Amino acid sequence: MVETCLFPAAGYGTRFLPATKAMPKEMLPILTKPLIQYGVEEALNAGCRTMAIVTGRGKRSIEDHFDISYELEHQIKDTSKEKFLTEIRNIMETATFSYTRQKEMRGLGHAILTGETLVGRNPFAVILADDLCFSEGEGVLTQMMRIYEKYRCCVVAIEEVDSHEAHKYGIIAADVIEEKIFRVKDMIEKPQKEKAPSNLAIIGRYILTPDIFNILRTTKPGINGELQITDALLELAKLGRVIGYKFEGIRYDCGSIDGFVRATNDFYQRMQK
Ligand code: G1P
Repeated sequence: MVETCLFPAAGYGTRFLPATKAMPKEMLPILTKPLIQYGVEEALNAGCRTMAIVTGRGKRSIEDHFDISYELEHQIKDTSKEKFLTEIRNIMETATFSYTRQKEMRGLGHAILTGETLVGRNPFAVILADDLCFSEGEGVLTQMMRIYEKYRCCVVAIEEVDSHEAHKYGIIAADVIEEKIFRVKDMIEKPQKEKAPSNLAIIGRYILTPDIFNILRTTKPGINGELQITDALLELAKLGRVIGYKFEGIRYDCGSIDGFVRATNDFYQRMQK
């Protein structure tokens, strides 16, 4: 059972400036719900009960969002508006939240290593909240849990991308072992188009085994001078201990304006149905 889901949430969100000058990018809403809440709901549906959030300076509103707001609760108690808080109240009753701060932005691998203190020596999930996933059936993390139960090693969610987009992602080389399931042999973070080993990109959903922390401690900074989770995972991939899973559903890159607008439009259309 994977109990904890880690949310790296310390990034600046520069692509959304000035909106993200004083507000965390994870709090940008798709309709009425902040991005991070969608991620937390996906983790809860997948059976995680502990949300471990790696924050940074200026991210207090994330903590406040998953806490009681006495004044507001008092104001809207027994009014028709109370229903708007039902979902978030349910989350707060079911999940436990813990936080730690990443003092310097030194890459996703560094953010995950910072979360070690919240995760302990157990397998854990990672959700990057700006990759918003939607599926008609089971959530993406729930699908991945099943793969983890079977293979008992790291699992990364993957999707096909155009070759001119390879430089935005971790790209894998892999052998098919079952429908939609791959054994990863190689992985490169943000390769140039010509160097991409395939068109299969990692998206922001991972299940990691705790041995990743020791590997991260000795991994050298990679592309952009950052500690990359992809480089650390490569060590485990060489041992055959990373599975790529082509998930069912749609992923919106809400770290980009295009993806954010698309998510907003699609979620709005679905709400009208
Ligand atoms: C991170 C990872 C990358 C992955 C991507 C998915 O990159 O480093 O391997 O493909 O998330 O969104 P970032 O988007 O933080 O640059």
